[in-house]
Amino acid sequence: MKILIATEKPFAAVAVNGIKKEAKQAGHEVVLLEKYTDKQQLLDAVADADAMIVRSDKITPDVMDAAKKLKIVVRAGAGYDSIDTEYAKQKDIVVENTPGQNSNAVAELVFGLLVYTVRNFYNGKAGTELKSKKLGILAFGNVGRNVARIAKGFGMKVYAYDEYCPNEVIEDAGVHAVQCRNDLFKDCDIVSLHIPATAETKQSINYEVVNQMKKGGILINTARKEVIDEPQLLKLLAEREDLKFITDIKPDADEEFRKFEGRYFSTPKKMGAQTAEANINAGIAAIKQINAFFKDGDTRFQVNK
Ligand SMILES: NC(=O)c1ccc[n+]([C@@H]2O[C@H](COP(=O)([O-])OP(=O)(O)OC[C@H]3O[C@@H](n4cnc5c(N)ncnc54)[C@H](O)[C@@H]3O)[C@@H](O)[C@H]2O)c1
Repeated sequence: MKILIATEKPFAAVAVNGIKKEAKQAGHEVVLLEKYTDKQQLLDAVADADAMIVRSDKITPDVMDAAKKLKIVVRAGAGYDSIDTEYAKQKDIVVENTPGQNSNAVAELVFGLLVYTVRNFYNGKAGTELKSKKLGILAFGNVGRNVARIAKGFGMKVYAYDEYCPNEVIEDAGVHAVQCRNDLFKDCDIVSLHIPATAETKQSINYEVVNQMKKGGILINTARKEVIDEPQLLKLLAEREDLKFITDIKPDADEEFRKFEGRYFSTPKKMGAQTAEANINAGIAAIKQINAFFKDGDTRFQVNK
């Protein structure tokens, strides 16, 4: 089988070598399309591919139409909103993600950003500590669980809300399960977003929701920029000078957010999963899933069933 690695933002070389090794052992051929600048390059490359490994690359209907032999696309990462999963389903193309492979990387960055924020972006002035502060985790998935584990090490009081995860799972992890999303915003000093971008969650973090936060509240987003209602959050930050917003996903309105100096910070590029470990883990998981799919028809990680 021909497996295309199509990555506008390439994997680390060590991850590519690992993918090639795993593919070769299973008798597959790997073709590499990195740093492409034109969609046509992707359309050409995918023409004879049986499988595809992508990162944040957009897999739209035209890409799938150009891929006459494509049977499976694996997104090396957690979120898969960059892939038109419904269209893939219509075309009998299996879409998978590689859950959990980058969640520790994202969770560690949450704390890098938080310490930076509570210490006033290292401006030399006395800040505050995370110990004993209430942290609210919105969505107790792979990233949320890692955030909870690390937060406990900091001595924080940890709360979580997840629409689909049973309370027992949250409580078993030593985390307080709250009954509704509003309670998380009302009661916690810091709220960390780990919801996927879905029809239900897009723009769901709006003026009304965030305005419930206590004085001095910090909102941190390492999920997706689409979950934030940016105009409404800008309005709220203008009205409430006590609130802070930090993220590793530059909002569309970054310029306007920057006006809130000392209360807003965004990494220049999406950084959550940018570690050597996450790169390698996700890339190797992707090829293993493809190998299992062709060998045994394994679709355990399919997200468009
Ligand atoms: N910043 C980055 O570089 C980076 C890296 C990895 C993942 N992410 C983002 O983080 C998100 C979470 O990643 P993950 O690995 O934890 O995913 P996951 O699939 O393991 O967990 C998502 C959780 O969200 C919950 N959920 C879904 N809809 C909800 C809703 N409306 N309200 C409350 N909870 C809801 C689900 O029940 C699940 O527990 C991803 O979807 C992705 O968008 C960002």
